[in-house]
Amino acid sequence: MEQPIISLKGVTYKYPDGNVALDGLDLDINKGEAIAIVGPNGAGKSTLLQIIAGLIPISSGTLTIMGKGVTADNVEKSHELEWLRRKLGIVFQDSDVALFNSTAWNDIIFGPLHLGLPTEEIVSRGERVMEQLGIQHLRDRAPYHMSGGEKRKVSIASVLSLEPEILLFDEPTSDLDPRSRRGIVDLLKRMTSEGKTVIVATHDVNAVPDFATRIVVLKRRVLASGDVRTVLSNESLLETSELDVPEITRLFKVLSSIGYTTSELPFCIDEAVKQIKASSARVHVHPSTVSNMESRCDP
Ligand SMILES: Nc1ncnc2c1ncn2[C@@H]1O[C@H](COP(=O)(O)OP(=O)(O)O)[C@@H](O)[C@H]1O
Ligand SMILES: [Mg+2]
Repeated sequence: MEQPIISLKGVTYKYPDGNVALDGLDLDINKGEAIAIVGPNGAGKSTLLQIIAGLIPISSGTLTIMGKGVTADNVEKSHELEWLRRKLGIVFQDSDVALFNSTAWNDIIFGPLHLGLPTEEIVSRGERVMEQLGIQHLRDRAPYHMSGGEKRKVSIASVLSLEPEILLFDEPTSDLDPRSRRGIVDLLKRMTSEGKTVIVATHDVNAVPDFATRIVVLKRRVLASGDVRTVLSNESLLETSELDVPEITRLFKVLSSIGYTTSELPFCIDEAVKQIKASSARVHVHPSTVSNMESRCDP
């Protein structure tokens, strides 16, 4: 079997103030996976992403990415991780961290420009990612005057323009309007379908079944890891990890408590539609409505 693209063994991270954010964490991630890292506030999700990105050094344990060790020593000498910066992109929850140019365009092409790519390549990458995110109209606007959602999209574009193989997203759907949120979920799916490895820290449990091929439940260490159905069906795990199920699942739990029978609980709208169609209820669902809601949850 192919080696994991990312492998963490016994990883511990202690903040300088003594706060232990990760404690003996083991996690292997394979190329092409779309992983949702879930867990309560303070579980260590953001810390884990920063460790994988080589931004903060592990206190103990080992981290291997694409077969190469990422040690505390080479995190300190950041030039030694140049290879990692070319392969991996991180989208922070706080977009202000990533945006520092006077226009969105300059932020978006900043990375490719510093890679020394030919001008046509830089321009074509910039235009392509703006189109992917639907932000052509923001091109000449100053990021510091933008709304949170607009800034988020520009910061994602500035990472995608580097065409990384591994993409890390910290709470990418937080504070977005419903249409933008849907756009981000579609983008996460597209990135995986292009063969990229996608790791998303999120508490947006409603979005998880739509993009994730695996859920990892974190609380300083990995409490559980598996497919969406297995993990979200584990009631005692949900309790200990302070996790909720998607709203559609909650609705069906209520319905089954008042006599509506389902063979399996749905975790996304597609599954719910299937359940309803399969039930004796005479419901007509127009096919175009269903195709608009296509999601990972129902491959
Ligand atoms: N800069 C920091 N200094 C000290 N403790 C921190 C710092 N950043 C985060 N922490 C602590 O580390 C733990 C994990 O935080 P974090 O990775 O942000 O969790 P999550 O993203 O899951 O909410 C929390 O207890 C948090 O308070
Ligand atoms: Mg966080």
